[in-house]
Amino acid sequence: MWAGRAAAYRRSAERLCAHPVPDLLDAARVAEGVGHLDVGCGTGTVVEAARARGAHVTAVDAEPDMVAATGARVPQARVEHGTLPELPFPDAEFDAATANFVLNHVGDPIAALTELHRVLRPGGRVAVTLWRNPDAAGQTLLGRAAQAAGVTPPAGRAGPGVDFARTGDGVAGLLRTAGFADVRGTELAWEHPADAEEWWAGFADGGIGTVGTMLGALTQEERAAAKAHYDRLAEELAGPDGRLLLPHIAVLAHGVKA
Ligand SMILES: C[S@@+](CC[C@H](N)C(=O)[O-])C[C@H]1O[C@@H](n2cnc3c(N)ncnc32)[C@H](O)[C@@H]1O
Repeated sequence: MWAGRAAAYRRSAERLCAHPVPDLLDAARVAEGVGHLDVGCGTGTVVEAARARGAHVTAVDAEPDMVAATGARVPQARVEHGTLPELPFPDAEFDAATANFVLNHVGDPIAALTELHRVLRPGGRVAVTLWRNPDAAGQTLLGRAAQAAGVTPPAGRAGPGVDFARTGDGVAGLLRTAGFADVRGTELAWEHPADAEEWWAGFADGGIGTVGTMLGALTQEERAAAKAHYDRLAEELAGPDGRLLLPHIAVLAHGVKA
């Protein structure tokens, strides 16, 4: 889903996924001198923000394209190829670990969190985000347009046995199962401003995320039908200046390695 997508990600979801980053870094207590690991770093938003706080940042991503993008954006960070649930680091290497909108892509989130637990030192903190379910209206806009045009979304979001509630409590439960203590799960709600045409093109042309993959697989006629539904549905989310105000809700969960 992410191979070769760094440039497309920058044009679509990057700015959206940047919203919770200050809260994420606060929850993991990322500050001057902290040894911080960011997993699934994408194009480097979290890495850049952590460096700006004076942290010593290491980052990994499963996609070489993303590793290159983050390395170019934050040359002071150590950026490596790494795929959860196996990280190329010794036990107890880091003071803090973050994963911003990554856990929903890793297949087995408990195995991924157990690995983050392993590489944290005792007292080290983890903080993760992912999209809340039920989704807010801005999160589902493109998917509703695709479904109105008759496109069936892929079934399930994680493999059998590892699905979980995309709520504060649900993600907090995963952290506890992975061994973290002092766990809290909260929700962050905001309205993401976006130009309607750019929002459509960023996902439909870039193939970003599940919905981008769905839209990218459509025939020309199906795509035109989905776009017509999108134009109609988007009107309901337009602000006074015509730009979209897209409601989103993320779960932010954090904990400590005892
Ligand atoms: C939605 S993007 C989030 C990127 C970044 N964290 C941000 O906030 O912009 C998800 C990222 O996770 C990476 N990813 C997906 N599965 C992964 C895995 N198993 N291990 C490491 N990275 C993974 C993808 O390549 C992609 O860069």
